[in-house]
Amino acid sequence: MAIKNHPFFIFLFVFYIFMSFSPEIAHAGSYLSTITGGNWVVLQESIGISAMHMQVLRNNKVIMFDRTDFGRSNLSLPDGKCRYKDEAVKPKDCTAHAVLYDIASNTFRPLMVQTDTWCSSGSLDSSGNLIQTGGYKAGEAVIRSFTPCDDDSCDWVELSNQVLWNRRWYASNQLLPDGRIIIVGGRRAFTYEFYPKNPQERDNFTLPFLIHTRDPQEEINLYPFLHLLPDGNLFIFANNRSISLDYKRNKVIKEYPVMPVGDRRNYPCTGSSVLLPLRLTGITNVTDHPEAEVMICGGAQKGAYIKSNYLHIYGQASTTCGRLKVTDPKPEWVMELMPIPRIMNDMLLLPTGDLIIINGATNGSAGWNDAMNPVYNPVLYQPDEDPTRRFVVLSSSKIARLYHSTAALLPDGRILVGGSNPHQGYNMTGKPYPTELSLEAFYLHYLDPQYAYLRPSILTVELSDRAVSYGELFSVTFVCSSYRLDLGVSVTVIAPSFTTHSFGMNQRMVVLNVVSVVQLSMFAYKANVIGPINVNVAPPGYYMMFVVHAGIPSNAVWVNVC
Ligand SMILES: *[C@@H]1O[C@H](CO)[C@@H](O)[C@H](O)[C@H]1NC(C)=O
Ligand SMILES: *[C@@H]1O[C@H](CO)[C@@H](O)[C@H](O)[C@H]1NC(C)=O
Ligand SMILES: *[C@@H]1O[C@H](CO)[C@@H](O)[C@H](O)[C@H]1NC(C)=O
Ligand SMILES: *[C@@H]1O[C@H](CO)[C@@H](O)[C@H](O)[C@H]1NC(C)=O
Ligand SMILES: *[C@@H]1O[C@H](CO)[C@@H](O)[C@H](O)[C@H]1NC(C)=O
Ligand SMILES: *[C@@H]1O[C@H](CO)[C@@H](O)[C@H](O)[C@H]1NC(C)=O
Repeated sequence: MAIKNHPFFIFLFVFYIFMSFSPEIAHAGSYLSTITGGNWVVLQESIGISAMHMQVLRNNKVIMFDRTDFGRSNLSLPDGKCRYKDEAVKPKDCTAHAVLYDIASNTFRPLMVQTDTWCSSGSLDSSGNLIQTGGYKAGEAVIRSFTPCDDDSCDWVELSNQVLWNRRWYASNQLLPDGRIIIVGGRRAFTYEFYPKNPQERDNFTLPFLIHTRDPQEEINLYPFLHLLPDGNLFIFANNRSISLDYKRNKVIKEYPVMPVGDRRNYPCTGSSVLLPLRLTGITNVTDHPEAEVMICGGAQKGAYIKSNYLHIYGQASTTCGRLKVTDPKPEWVMELMPIPRIMNDMLLLPTGDLIIINGATNGSAGWNDAMNPVYNPVLYQPDEDPTRRFVVLSSSKIARLYHSTAALLPDGRILVGGSNPHQGYNMTGKPYPTELSLEAFYLHYLDPQYAYLRPSILTVELSDRAVSYGELFSVTFVCSSYRLDLGVSVTVIAPSFTTHSFGMNQRMVVLNVVSVVQLSMFAYKANVIGPINVNVAPPGYYMMFVVHAGIPSNAVWVNVC
């Protein structure tokens, strides 16, 4: 056979040339013909508290906390510290309600949170410090910070000179392009406000959308879903409706179509929402916007909470997801069916651009003992796959993760899972599902040893001025024992989310524009990459940067985008 002139080989040759000039064109996930189910590992039988809120920090530690009015936890505070202001534990509570977990050593230490953080919200600021807002009773208007440190000296600080204008219980937060944090809603708080505070200026603004989306019996507008859009406005979803808000002028600039099929998506009909990866490939003009698409999955029918809480009837949770291209001139929801119904599902963006839907139950609602039939299987969602192949059911855990459970993406690509407390206090024998103090990690298929030969490993990130600058070229060198140009490489940055009540606040992924990949030596390569085009696409802050080759991500390195 005359190989040279065979049309197939000519095609391959042309294909190869084309691919070599477009390093990102191959879809990251497309190479893996089968997706294995992944593995669960119990990291800790007990961290002493129930991880109700979770935030990964820029020094590879994770802060987790529950609430101070919960009774005594199973972890003592160090140095004889106690909390005296408490209403639940009189006269004093000398146990921790927050821990700092170290990813590399799989160890944790107790932290001292002073006032009640129950059902609160948070966000990292542009310096990578946690700013946590609100909670319950004495904690309802408190602003707290946690600044990561390299030794054991750092702990919670309650700001003495700044408080919230409105009490915030079940609010949501988002870091803004100008470095401020917006805090939206909460129980009986139909307003938004900002951090940091200027004591001279009252910056709490009424948001009628929160009044209109409030259900008189069940609320259903709590923990609203917030996503910062690439035009700088804020997408807000509550109940079954959504808007785009110009928070600088307190003006609703767009109302999107009502999400169809009748399911409700916010607490207590808790589903989850993500902004799908913003793709900057080919976008170089700082005034251009990448396409933005929101995806919301899970939840329950209106009435689910009343039925389960008062009548003990646990109806089936939502089976649907909806995708909305919010940057379209006339966006419409495109609905899809999940393989398993879910309430209280967490949704996390993966370095590959896929999503994992994890935790939750198939029946009932959020709230105390209001859900039945935990879903032990996470589901992978591949947004760019053929619609019939987008969902893949993954391996099951043995631990129920219901109300007050959390999940977060770790810099090594694993998913950290903790919490679950459907009871009024710690109840390790509670029926039907106990309070969980354990921590687990889920290892996705891309961590399987069989893909080790494809896995890139980042050596250095060459930056001008120690940061990834907007619109500026920088380079990432990596090694890979079996690098294949035709399988494509992408460089992605992911903002670590503040996770609670199934919503990852601030979660954000940007796929950067890789302009070229150069081979440096036998196994070393250098990707030349352009930083995010502007602050709306990636607000200044700390991001996990991954190199993804053939659908297999490297470990992340932390980069400061500013
Ligand atoms: C608390 O921790 C101790 C020591 O690890 C353990 O023996 C005990 O069973 C734990 N109690 C609860 C309620 O988890
Ligand atoms: C803003 O905060 C002040 C002080 O707490 C409060 O009196 C006022 O009612 C708040 N405004 C709104 C719109 O809630
Ligand atoms: C959306 O919610 C409103 C208020 O509860 C309700 O009247 C309407 O029927 C809902 N629409 C859909 C499509 O679920
Ligand atoms: C970027 O886009 C704007 C608006 O479309 C245009 O006016 C400008 O010339 C473009 N800049 C470059 C460098 O292409
Ligand atoms: C879950 O919902 C399904 C569908 O409504 C129902 O058949 C089943 O009995 C429910 N399970 C429980 C435990 O209530
Ligand atoms: C734990 O929950 C069970 C019901 O499941 C209840 O009987 C028991 O009193 C609870 N224990 C505590 C300490 O609240």
